[in-house]
Amino acid sequence: MAEKVLELKNLQAYYRHLKGDVKAVDGIDLTVNRGEIMGVAGESGCGKSTLAYTLINAPAHLKHMGGEAYLNGKEIMSMSSGEFRKLRLQNISLIPQYALDAFSPTKKIKTHIRDLVRQHGVSPNDEFMEKVKDRLKIVNLDPSVLSRYAMELSGGMKQRVIMTISSVLDPDFLIADEITSALDVTSQRFVANMLVNLRDKEIIGSAIFITHDLAIMYQIASRIMVMYAGHLAEVGPAEEIMHNPKHPYTEALISSLPRVGIQHTDTRLHGIEGTPPDLTEIGPGCRFRFRCSYRTDKCDETPRREQVGERHYTACWNYEQVGSDSNDEQ
Ligand SMILES: Nc1ncnc2c1ncn2[C@@H]1O[C@H](COP(=O)(O)OP(=O)(O)OP(=O)(O)O)[C@@H](O)[C@H]1O
Ligand SMILES: [Mg+2]
Repeated sequence: MAEKVLELKNLQAYYRHLKGDVKAVDGIDLTVNRGEIMGVAGESGCGKSTLAYTLINAPAHLKHMGGEAYLNGKEIMSMSSGEFRKLRLQNISLIPQYALDAFSPTKKIKTHIRDLVRQHGVSPNDEFMEKVKDRLKIVNLDPSVLSRYAMELSGGMKQRVIMTISSVLDPDFLIADEITSALDVTSQRFVANMLVNLRDKEIIGSAIFITHDLAIMYQIASRIMVMYAGHLAEVGPAEEIMHNPKHPYTEALISSLPRVGIQHTDTRLHGIEGTPPDLTEIGPGCRFRFRCSYRTDKCDETPRREQVGERHYTACWNYEQVGSDSNDEQ
């Protein structure tokens, strides 16, 4: 039987502000098995990074409001920050969005690595640094990068250094947030394949791969979760999500993808009309209903999660209509 590495049950985390709570992660259910790369997709502001931060217990004003998260069967939301610090990097590790900008120009790469692992209670002794050198080779970097400054490296090289640092303690679970977004197409593919490589070599157990880019996600993710406005819209095998979506939002996201080989005179890109709702004022009901052409009165109630295939779930009252020809507006 598949071994569950991460299991989320109705997980909720809000940013707490005087003007109200920002309900950025609001009832997420998800299981990631060993060996899986779970893609997380959705428009800007839908809560992808917030989900990542919730799982690593940061920042302070992001509060866990309910639900559970199990890492290898152990609940992590109820842990003290001291207990959780021991898990970071060794059991669960995050490559944060914009990590490329976080390198100090005045430190050598080896200093970055040493400082980081010390924070996690690991001594960067000679044996450890030898392991780092081996790991750099896995991501196709010459160990001489250790003596260079970050500003001397290209974006793709820096991203590979970050992947090395984040996986050096062999975490069971790695969260990679937009690791390909600032890179050219070749480097994007290279970095994405490196994630697969780390999984294949069992350096990491499984991963969450967050990106706006559905095309690259489809290449490496075994399953895809689509988030909308803090809710889970749909989750399922990558093939099913891309070719047989059962949530209007997933369908809209896919139809907004450019298709190679079609000239600009033939077709227009379909953006999704409207904007996501304000997450501070959000009440019950389907959060996508204001932009949805399948909307019915029932959508004022929050949708149940329906199973529509093997490990394929959607949160839409009208999922049976999605993908059928009866909805011509799509
Ligand atoms: N520190 C914060 N305080 C309050 N609200 C925040 C904070 N950070 C993010 N938010 C809000 O939480 C929601 C989710 O943001 P988040 O950064 O998780 O989205 P995202 O899906 O990662 O977007 P992107 O694709 O642009 O990275 C947004 O409405 C955002 O404005
Ligand atoms: Mg983000």
